[in-house]
Amino acid sequence: MSSALASSGRNREASLIDGEFPLTRDDYQQIAGIAYADAGIDLGEGKASLVYSRLAKRLRALHMENFRSYCQLLSREEGVEERQQMVAALTTNVTRFFREPHHFEHMRANVLPQLASRARSGAPVRIWSAACSSGEEPYSIALSILAVMPDAASRNVRVLATDIDPNVLRKGDAGIYGESAMEPVPKEVRQRWFVPHGTDHSGKTWRVGDDLRKLVVFRKLNLIGPWPMRGPFQAIMCRNALIYFKEETQVEIWRRFVPLLAPAGRLYIGHSERLFGAASPFFTNEAITTYRLKEGPSA
Ligand SMILES: C[S@@+](CC[C@H](N)C(=O)[O-])C[C@H]1O[C@@H](n2cnc3c(N)ncnc32)[C@H](O)[C@@H]1O
Repeated sequence: MSSALASSGRNREASLIDGEFPLTRDDYQQIAGIAYADAGIDLGEGKASLVYSRLAKRLRALHMENFRSYCQLLSREEGVEERQQMVAALTTNVTRFFREPHHFEHMRANVLPQLASRARSGAPVRIWSAACSSGEEPYSIALSILAVMPDAASRNVRVLATDIDPNVLRKGDAGIYGESAMEPVPKEVRQRWFVPHGTDHSGKTWRVGDDLRKLVVFRKLNLIGPWPMRGPFQAIMCRNALIYFKEETQVEIWRRFVPLLAPAGRLYIGHSERLFGAASPFFTNEAITTYRLKEGPSA
């Protein structure tokens, strides 16, 4: 073996992290490759400590001694389930009720009054929260709908809430939130649309009430996989998920939203994201990180 090869071989075997579980460059690259292939998540080169801290609990749960054995499991047929657990562990699920409040203000002022008339005429109203995490975002959309249309639950109005991570979807589906999660929800809104549920380690908990719950449907959906829905959606919120993807994947997903949006449909994206590339000619930038589908060019 040439000395260059020997040294690159040694590099691959050298530990990137020497903690409880050694993590080599090869292990890291295999894990990053799976995150990209299965979920579009671009870990790049420098996220070894994030990977270590997110996955160490998986290794402990599986009684494994190092990342090498974990990677061997991931590459075997019986590792399919663990690949999903791994992707779920690597996703960032941070969210809040009424996060980036200007989007909900925009919706209430510019979108929902018309959608309320539409719903009252019997036509369907559909809004998609794509990458919804544990439900705070789709319930915030539903609460905004209830503010302009208190009888929305008895109309043909639905918020589709999708995410790749089954753990957060279970939380959204259960609809139980603690006092600190509920902080951004005004008291009168809480009292009208939630019910006290009991207590947990951090204090009081609340459950979404029946009318609020009826408006939101949770489904597992991988944004880089096939989308079974046909739309049209009057609005799509896809915030703070695509920042973890490569630019070309972001553009492709925005481009796939275009044929699913109703005429003049709105697209809301995250605070550190900006629409660019092949999707941008289809949209007018209406307000900060808020886009409106242009009339004219069809997708
Ligand atoms: C930071 S949270 C954003 C939640 C919410 N949209 C917000 O802004 O508060 C990102 C979410 O994207 C989800 N996610 C990551 N990759 C995904 C993919 N390929 N398909 C669907 N959801 C994905 C994660 O599971 C996570 O719940």
